[in-house]
Formats: sequence, C-alpha cells, structure tokens
Amino acid sequence: MFIGANLFGKDLNKAQLKKLPEAQGVLAGAFFLIVLFLFIPVPFYEYFYNRSIGTQFPFSEYVQFLAALLSICCMIFLGFADDVMDLRWRHKLLLPTIASLPLLMVYFVTFDLTEIIVPKPFRAFVGFSINIGPLYYLYMGMLAVFCTNAINILAGINGVEAGQSLIIAISVVIFNVLEIHGTHREAHIFSLYFLMPYIGVCLGLLYHNWYPANAFVGDTFCYFSGMTFAVVAILGHFSKTMLLFFIPQVFNFLFSAPQLFHFVPCPRHRMPKYNVKTDKLESSLAEFSEKDIKFPGKYILRIASFFRLINLTQTVEKENHIHYKCTNMTILNLLLRLFGPLHEKTLCCVYLMLQALCSIVAFMIRYQIAGLVYDT
Ligand code: UD1
Ligand code: MG
Repeated sequence: MFIGANLFGKDLNKAQLKKLPEAQGVLAGAFFLIVLFLFIPVPFYEYFYNRSIGTQFPFSEYVQFLAALLSICCMIFLGFADDVMDLRWRHKLLLPTIASLPLLMVYFVTFDLTEIIVPKPFRAFVGFSINIGPLYYLYMGMLAVFCTNAINILAGINGVEAGQSLIIAISVVIFNVLEIHGTHREAHIFSLYFLMPYIGVCLGLLYHNWYPANAFVGDTFCYFSGMTFAVVAILGHFSKTMLLFFIPQVFNFLFSAPQLFHFVPCPRHRMPKYNVKTDKLESSLAEFSEKDIKFPGKYILRIASFFRLINLTQTVEKENHIHYKCTNMTILNLLLRLFGPLHEKTLCCVYLMLQALCSIVAFMIRYQIAGLVYDT
C-alpha cells in the first residue's frame, strides 16, 4: 500500500536498488497510540472503585498523561509530513519545538519546577539550587529537538535507527525498575507506561528493518522515538540520566555539527558507501572545493584529520584551486575507519554493541560517579 502511494525509498547499500516502503514508523506510532488510548483508564482504576466515597480524581496526573500523548501524536504527524514532503533542516528543528509545547504547558501548570540542583563542589559559592526560570523551558524544548534529530542523523544502514532506540528504551526501563521503590516512584511508573508499549512496537519494526530490510522506519519513527524519550524524561524529571543513555548520539551530533551547520559542506546522504565488489560498506566521502568551506571549517577539518577522526585529502587543481575529499563526519563512518570495511549487518551489530556498552557506562556514571557530585 505504501509503495502504491509512492511512499518508498531505495535501499542504497545493496547491489540491486529495491523499492522499500518508507515511513513505517507511522504504523509503529499508530499501534503505540491505540495501545495507550486503550490504557488511559488503567492507571486511574482506583478512583473508579473509590468513586462512591468521594475520592478526588487525580486531574493533574490525567492531564500529564493526555499531554504526553498529544505531544507524541503531534510528533508522529509532523514526522510523517517530513517523510512525505522531505522538509528542509530548519523545519526539522522547528517541528519538535512545536510538538513539545503542549507538554511544556502542562509542565508549567502542574510542576513549574525550574530549579536546577547545583553540583556539590559549587554549592559553597552559589548555594544548593538555582532557579533558572524560562531557561528551564528552553532546555526542555531543546531536549525534544535533540532527542528527535540525534536519532535521525544516526541512520542510513538497515536496523540502526530502530536498534539504537530499542537499546535506549530498554536501558531507561531498567533505570525505571531500579528506581521504582525510590522517592520518585510515580514518575518512573509513568515512564514505564510509555516505554513498555514503545519497546513492543520498536521490536516489531526492527524485525522488518533488520538486514536485509523490507521496510524503512522513516523520519516518522525517529521523531516518534525522540519525542517519547523526551516526554518521559521531562515528566519523569530524569533528563540528565536520559542524556547519559544518549552518549553515542551526543558524540555523533558534536562530530556532525560542522556539517550540520554548514561550516563544512554536507551532502544529502552521509551514510556509508556500498562497494559492490566486496559487498561491504566503506566510509562515504564529501567532495568540495576550498571556496565552499566557511570559517572555521578549514581548521575543523585539520583538527579532525589530526585526531584521525576523518580521512582528508587535498589536491591542487587548475588556477591553484584546492579540491577537498573528506570522509563524512558520522559515527558510522568513523567505525568503518577504525575497523575497516564491514558488511552492513556487521556494522549495525558493532554499532549496537557500542550503544549497549555506552548504556553500561551510563549506569556506572549514574550509580557510581553521580553520587560524588549530586545527592542521588
Ligand atoms: C539522515 C542523514 C543522512 C543519511 C540519512 C539516511 C544527516 C544530516 N542526515 O537524513 O546523512 O544518509 O538520514 O537515513 O546526517 N536508506 C537506506 N538504507 C537504510 C536507511 C535509509 O538506503 O537502512 C536511505 C533510503 O533511500 C531512504 C532514505 O535513506 O529512503 C531515508 O533518508 P531520510 O531519513 O529521508 O534522510 P534524512 O533523515 O533527511
Ligand atoms: Mg531520516
């Protein structure tokens, strides 16, 4: 049906470019919403039992639940619009900001907690906490923009978008379970309500997107995933811990920044390049001339090349113009630089192992090191 509706993409890392249905995240998102819509009365069942004795209905929890669903629903819709219309990068930044507004409004009326706890070493100078007011709302909006786009730019090989999201979701679920008897029990239960069905639909999608893929997850899925993570982190008050589970995505974003902000030219696709002869993937290249580089792009290229993060070659062409070739600045291309050409499935497995390893590091930071600077 999707191919019939012209919603397809070509699997670029295969010998034969097969048409695969695109934006399958819309199906995962739809099932997720159906499950959660049916689930709405469940957390409030105690009220229905005790109605006769005049228990007050927990409106604020109810409205948080609905606003979380509204933000996710809105993000699925906007992600689908992106898949259909192939929006530009500035819109990709705007969409999650808009979709997070219902959530921020509910945060404002229910919590409006805009204080940040100061790390222990600085408390002698600035006190226990600082109220950063509107900046806290800006931070939460930016968290939604980051989570959605960070997953979307760590993409391009079969299984990687759904795989990384699955590992992040499982890590957060483990964190919620570990914290379930703590002081913020309600927040962690709230997170589980969203992440358990999310893991279900994510597994289904990964099954179809795993090498050799017969469906693409599309931007719809990346936005849906990122927004789900942002929603549970914001309403569950664990955005710092959530960011710990995004270590590879944070690295990939920082590494990609020179290309994303066009200091260094950014081709439409930065995914690894397929070599038909070896049936393996190699780092893909961006090619450009000196005049296409904006300040301080040239210095960034030199530093990245010095630290062997990229492979940079310069050739002098006619009229002394320098032609540059550099490997695209993504974690997947970097892994290929480190381990040599890999098969698409192997590269995906290597990346997912790295993501899982980073989750273990995240737990160590959260439970061993964070206690040194925060009261955990
Ligand atoms: C982001 C990345 C882009 C990467 C692309 C791959 C940035 C700034 N953008 O762009 O570099 O190439 O994702 O998804 O980093 N595709 C495959 N195999 C896959 C997955 C996708 O061949 O396993 C191709 C298909 O042709 C598919 C297309 O990528 O149709 C989807 O690209 P899209 O999600 O629209 O790209 P962006 O998110 O804009
Ligand atoms: Mg995408």
